[in-house]
Amino acid sequence: MLKFDFTNKVVLVTGGSRGVGKIIAQSFAKAGAHVIINYKSDHIHAEDTLRSIYPGKHIMLQANLDNAEEVRRMINKIVEEYGRIDVVVNNAGVSEQHPVEKTAYLDWQHAWEKIIKTNLIGPSNVCYCAAQYMILQKSGRIINVSSRGAFKGEPNMPAYGASKAGLNAMSQSLALSLAPHNIFVGVVAPGFVQTERQRPILEGASLQNINAQSPLGRIAKPLEVANAVLFLASEGTEYMTGTIIDVNGASYLR
Ligand SMILES: NC(=O)c1ccc[n+]([C@@H]2O[C@H](COP(=O)([O-])OP(=O)(O)OC[C@H]3O[C@@H](n4cnc5c(N)ncnc54)[C@H](OP(=O)(O)O)[C@@H]3O)[C@@H](O)[C@H]2O)c1
Repeated sequence: MLKFDFTNKVVLVTGGSRGVGKIIAQSFAKAGAHVIINYKSDHIHAEDTLRSIYPGKHIMLQANLDNAEEVRRMINKIVEEYGRIDVVVNNAGVSEQHPVEKTAYLDWQHAWEKIIKTNLIGPSNVCYCAAQYMILQKSGRIINVSSRGAFKGEPNMPAYGASKAGLNAMSQSLALSLAPHNIFVGVVAPGFVQTERQRPILEGASLQNINAQSPLGRIAKPLEVANAVLFLASEGTEYMTGTIIDVNGASYLR
């Protein structure tokens, strides 16, 4: 197991209540950080995750990232509570199928609005609000969770692929503008990850095909994604700012 040290660092994990975000939150907690678990509405899972990392040192904060005001309030609350914000992990994300040849025009528009709002505009607002404090404290790390789909294409979810490609481009632009402030920005781009959300796909007949996409013959474990996130958030990786780490088991090489 990889060892990291984030003793007393203040770390926000958006979408930290379930799936990959839960394991990222647990990994930062294990490494000594104060973790803020953000979630949208699933109070029960958020509470479960908080309990798993021992409340007290850590908190959960409900905020819908689609709402710019809620994002601002969340970041302000973190700084009120802990006095600073050291690491932001933009992990929350949504996806839904909307293949161009089978989707009604209105549904197509709704899918694009929803996905771009949550996966791109939400993280941009989180970056903006957190950066205002990070600039004042002259340090910070932003890690954005993207997807292999940004490069490989997502024929059934084009808005999802576009949202993640946009997230990559935004991260690289912010890496340029924030480096002079000692703030570093990285991206982790997973392929398929073993999470509850993917269960219907992974339990279906397609599992064998999905596993076969990687020469390792399997999909990623959430901890493998978390390891890449903690790595990029660690001291000593400053010169990697603007980088995008693939965690896809060589299922797509670019
Ligand atoms: N799983 C994969 O195979 C895979 C592959 C590549 C990339 N990724 C990326 O990895 C990240 C995590 O994926 P996952 O599979 O772990 O997702 P997940 O299990 O569906 O969990 C999503 C999390 O995001 C939160 N969330 C969703 N919309 C939100 C909003 N508007 N405001 C605040 N929080 C919101 C959810 O909160 P609630 O619980 O309250 O709804 C939940 O905590 C995503 O960015 C995804 O695109 C995943």
